[in-house]
Amino acid sequence: MKLPLIRLAGAIIAVFGLNLSAHATPDLVNGKKIDQQKCYACHAKKSGFGNGDMIYTRSDSKVKNLQNLKSMVAMCNTELRLDLFPEDEADVAAFLNKQFYKFK
Ligand code: HEC
Repeated sequence: MKLPLIRLAGAIIAVFGLNLSAHATPDLVNGKKIDQQKCYACHAKKSGFGNGDMIYTRSDSKVKNLQNLKSMVAMCNTELRLDLFPEDEADVAAFLNKQFYKFK
């Protein structure tokens, strides 16, 4: 019995290929899920608005550009020990930008 090595190699390449493309473009659906699961409730409470989206659109927002946004996400993640992977951090930052901040 011989393993069909060619097909195995093909499958491995397919899997790694998918992984690479997933890293190149942020996963907005994953970003949204993380925001809802890990971020929304605390922001709703801490901001006093009772709505976890409004901290991103408040008039005295601390976030002025994409770099600020990434640092703020990183800060909430590390300060609060949310244990997000760097990919997840990138996904959630991309989602917040697309949905709320709209920086270029
Ligand atoms: C335990 C509470 C808590 C959790 C959980 C939390 N945050 Fe925050 N976050 C805050 C507080 C409090 C502020 C306001 C900080 C300030 O005004 O200096 C804030 C502010 C922010 C801001 C800046 C908003 C603005 O425009 O001024 C971003 C962006 C942000 N958080 C992202 C996240 C993300 C992404 C997550 C989840 C991965 C998260 N936070 C989880 C408490 C939290």
